[in-house]
Formats: sequence, C-alpha cells, structure tokens
Amino acid sequence: MAKHEISVLISEEELMKRIRELAGQISADFEGETVKLICILKGSIFFTCELAKRITVPVMLDFMQVSSYGSGTVSSGTINIKKELDEPLEGQNVVLVEDIIDSGNTLSKLIPVLKARNPKTLKVCTLLDKPDRREVEVNVDYNGFNIPDKFVVGFGLDYDQHYRNLPYVGVLSI
Ligand code: IMP
Ligand code: MG
Repeated sequence: MAKHEISVLISEEELMKRIRELAGQISADFEGETVKLICILKGSIFFTCELAKRITVPVMLDFMQVSSYGSGTVSSGTINIKKELDEPLEGQNVVLVEDIIDSGNTLSKLIPVLKARNPKTLKVCTLLDKPDRREVEVNVDYNGFNIPDKFVVGFGLDYDQHYRNLPYVGVLSI
C-alpha cells in the first residue's frame, strides 16, 4: 500500500500513562472481585493487553468480533457476530473494551446483546472517543481520550488493515 503521512496525536508514553490510570480506576471499582475483559477484535487487542497487565484484581479475558454488515456471519439481533465469545457472561463483572467510539452504532447494538446474557455488571471502556461524531447515545464508563473528528490509526486502529502495529495513535492524511 502507498505510504501515507501519519502525524503523532497521542504518543506511546501518553497512552501508557493514561492506560495505567484507567487500570487503576477499574481495579478500585472492582476491589475484591474478578473482572472479565471482552476484547472487541481486532482493534482493541493492543489496548486490552496493556490494560489487563495493569489491572490488579483478578482478570479473565474473552474475545469477540462483530460487524454491522458483511456476509457469512451469524446474526444476533441487529449485529453480526463474526467471532463469538468462548464462555458465558452470567453473574460476571464484564468490561467491554473498545478501541474507539465513533457514531456509537456498534456499541449501541452490542450492549443489549451482552446484557441479555445476564452479567452481574456491564461496563464500557474505550481508549478513544470522538464525541463530535456521535449518532447514538452510548454510556461510557472509562474513556482514555476524547479526540477530534480525524481519522486515526495505530495502537490497534487500522486503515484498510494497515498500521495497527504503530506504537502510537496518529492522524492519517489521505
Ligand atoms: P462506531 O460504530 O461508528 O462507533 O464505530 C466504531 C468502529 O469504527 C471502531 O471500532 C473502529 O473499527 C472504526 N473506526 C471509527 N473511527 C475510526 C478511526 O478514526 N480510525 C480507525 N477506525 C475507526
Ligand atoms: Mg476497524
């Protein structure tokens, strides 16, 4: 793919500092309990790993991949589940880990699907939020950074499946 110009928006140091703070909040909120982090593939994998390593209460992990459209997928409600969780959520403290909330459409459809599985608690944790782009209201419990309405890549976020491995979040100029 052609090389794009990418300018650093959030450095690796800033990301790690903020992720440590988020992990501290989650650890405090769930003191004496176990949390299950649900990593929404693929974008959230880098964030989930760094967050999980810094949480001091017991952590369980599960993975899910969803899309609002596409073929060959199992439909559940109005969202397509491309990869289903391995384990039930019944009675568990669940934290949904997202890379970025943009329109809010993905999470607003996914949350009811997960709530229907009767977790004890269900929280939403996102690394990035673009509040200016919101079309559907989503209740966010833990938010790393509010960012402007720019297309960003890196730290899990892709442009056409590229740039996920950048250690920082950068603005892509197309
Ligand atoms: P939403 O349903 O509009 O909130 O979309 C969320 C999803 O859109 C994220 O999980 C990303 O996969 C994708 N997305 C939104 N904004 C960006 C961006 O700036 N860079 C890369 N992916 C993005
Ligand atoms: Mg994506």
